[in-house]
Amino acid sequence: MRTSITDIKKKKHSSFSMLTAYDYSTAKIVESSGIEIILVGDSLGQVVLGYDTPVMVTMDDILHHLRAVVRATSKSHIVADMPFLSYQTDESTAIKNAGTLLQKGNAQSIKLEGGESIAELVNKMVKIGIPVMGHIGLTPQSVNQFGGFKIQGKNVTEASKIINDALCLEESGAYSIVLEGIPTEVSKIITEKLSIPTIGIGAGQYCDGQVQVIHDILGLYPDFSPKHAKQYINLSEIIQNAIKEFISDVENKSFPNKTNSSFLKNEVAEIMKKNFS
Ligand code: KIV
Repeated sequence: MRTSITDIKKKKHSSFSMLTAYDYSTAKIVESSGIEIILVGDSLGQVVLGYDTPVMVTMDDILHHLRAVVRATSKSHIVADMPFLSYQTDESTAIKNAGTLLQKGNAQSIKLEGGESIAELVNKMVKIGIPVMGHIGLTPQSVNQFGGFKIQGKNVTEASKIINDALCLEESGAYSIVLEGIPTEVSKIITEKLSIPTIGIGAGQYCDGQVQVIHDILGLYPDFSPKHAKQYINLSEIIQNAIKEFISDVENKSFPNKTNSSFLKNEVAEIMKKNFS
């Protein structure tokens, strides 16, 4: 049985973790390490597909990676990001696309960006039976509007708007909310005001949970290392060293060796030698 939104709601005040994963092998490792909530985020656009921003990610991209992650896991709750323009144009398209992520991708819930402006849509989705995780603050799909990945909510007007967005999402039935790129004081107020869990990324220590992009904590995205991420290991360097060793083994003929190879039975080898020498 996978972790449900009821289980996640009970995690309020419990300091839990969520990680992204985008492929079968990584998702297996993430689940077996004890992560109960996996996000197939549109961050895959940058860290897996090499797009400039998440704005370029499509429904097909998310579905493709979502299916791999679902195939790899049996216990984790899988959240699928709704990509840019999959929910902003009209309500019926939004609901159909959210439904597709559940029906064809087998996600257990979806995540979308926005606060008060999408509260009504969230409410409709929840009533239909689509569990929604909210996402406010530095919402990456608005990167062009923000003029870059910049901390949001730094003045009273902006901070009050973000707090209002959080309250609207809770009111509309979201089961949890990602708070991204906002000052610690603002996420503390939101976390204290809401009865659903907040999940922070670049939002300080007071959120109920924390989410990170797996490439950032493993040092797997050489292009950029965000301030909010702690790199626990530099896998890029470890992988490079392993590949260099492989190249050198091939060059000096120490790979493949006998254990990596298969051989004919002696009698067959003899005949082949005789026939072809
Ligand atoms: O796409 C993603 O990885 C996300 C996280 C940054 C929360 O939305």
